[in-house]
Amino acid sequence: MKNIITGEDVDIAFESGKKEIVVGPEDIVTSIAKEKAEKCGIRFVVAEKIPSTPVGSTASTLNGASFTPSFVRDDKTVPIHAARSGTAPIPPFDMEYWRKQFPLLSTYAHVANCSHAPQSTFTRNAAIEYLENWNTMGMDWDRWMEEVYHAKEEFAKIINADPGEIAVGTSVSEFTSTVASSLPLNTNRKKVIVTDAEFPTVGHVWLANRKYGFNVQFIPLKDGIIDIGDYDRYVDEDTIITSICDVYYYNGFKQDLKSIIPKIHEKGSLAYVDAYQGLGTHPLDVKELDIDFLASGNLKYLLSVPGIAFLYVKKEIAEHLQPAFTGWFGRVDPFAFDIHNLDWAKDARRFDNGTPPVPTAYIATAGMKIINTVGVENIFQWTNILSEHCIKGALERGLDLASPTDLNIKAPNTAIRVPGDSHEFEMALRKKGVIASARSDVVRIAPHFFTRLEDIDYILDCYVEILKMPVDSARKKIAASRWEYTNGGNAL
Ligand SMILES: Cc1ncc(COP(=O)(O)O)c(C=O)c1O
Repeated sequence: MKNIITGEDVDIAFESGKKEIVVGPEDIVTSIAKEKAEKCGIRFVVAEKIPSTPVGSTASTLNGASFTPSFVRDDKTVPIHAARSGTAPIPPFDMEYWRKQFPLLSTYAHVANCSHAPQSTFTRNAAIEYLENWNTMGMDWDRWMEEVYHAKEEFAKIINADPGEIAVGTSVSEFTSTVASSLPLNTNRKKVIVTDAEFPTVGHVWLANRKYGFNVQFIPLKDGIIDIGDYDRYVDEDTIITSICDVYYYNGFKQDLKSIIPKIHEKGSLAYVDAYQGLGTHPLDVKELDIDFLASGNLKYLLSVPGIAFLYVKKEIAEHLQPAFTGWFGRVDPFAFDIHNLDWAKDARRFDNGTPPVPTAYIATAGMKIINTVGVENIFQWTNILSEHCIKGALERGLDLASPTDLNIKAPNTAIRVPGDSHEFEMALRKKGVIASARSDVVRIAPHFFTRLEDIDYILDCYVEILKMPVDSARKKIAASRWEYTNGGNAL
């Protein structure tokens, strides 16, 4: 049997005056345990025979230690290097350089990218640039419009589109409403198919549009994923649009868009993709996938801030749609100031609304430039390695995974169920220098290209430590804890 040697085991050994802890060859010594042992002058001695309980009586045991996830058995489908024995995987970019660009990483392990990315020197400087420009110029619309266009260009690059196929707005909610308001009503197609994996805002917008005669039906989740066969069952000749997410925000389940979009189109339905939870972490080519609409905001893996979002609209369909949710920037010439003439810009700009979000466009461009510089392929490769490491580490520690274990259907987010109030668990993690993100019964570990393997080890060890504490007093205990995380895991 394998054992996990935790920091608590080291405490017990230290208190009983031991200088050595005997471990079995297969035992897992957590990084916190290693750190504490070093501080206390305790060494680990590997025994030939695995001791049943190495230190004290509190060492936790593995649940299902013999489990081998499919990605360990078969590494052909995704480019995984971590499983190869003896070689530590190396990121295909300069990790140290990039980590320095995110100052917060020197004090925190930030894995809340499914919620909000950390600030970088580039995004910070972009914000300052806008403020300086505003301060010195007072008003600089020509330059500001150019900056908004640059933001569209950078977004277009990520999804292989043309900037003319991109509209700018402030949220995915807004763009879902814009798309809904553009659908023709003079047709027999009245069905809108939505999956239960959508972020609630998307479902809310479609439900709100029932007053225009739309019949909204939801494809259910089964064990945290959507069954691809359900698209054949739900999407039919009455369907006008099918609204799907690229990645499920709760557990990182990634849909197979390549197989799904043809199923949707086969029935004559449009495809609307909410790509917010994965964009920037895996290649997504709107042309290759033949996507009709794709929306995303920028504060997650696109490394920016709230208050800006983009919508891709396929060139061939844009000119046939007239969104009723509109504004003066959707006009052929916004500066014509002709109140009586409702014309439509030729391309996706007709999906633009009011005055564009200039300050956040500066910041978003900087964030997306990072993604385009590091390269989505490289980010995909590294975040897959992190995912693999995280799943394996979570299973070895007996944690309750809510995410798929197959990397082919998983984005960076690894969700772990926790008992009690998950927000309290999130706060307890923060006390240990880990910024992760709670959602209902899980706390999500959502790394990015700047995350290291040892960060994942440290974070998982923290989960184990917090889980050992009684649920109701976990926060208080952790607040009083003497363990500080001061250098982003550099000592690990
Ligand atoms: C997949 C997804 N879509 C949409 C949203 C919310 O979008 P917005 O607040 O821009 O409307 C989120 C927020 O977390 C999300 O994860």
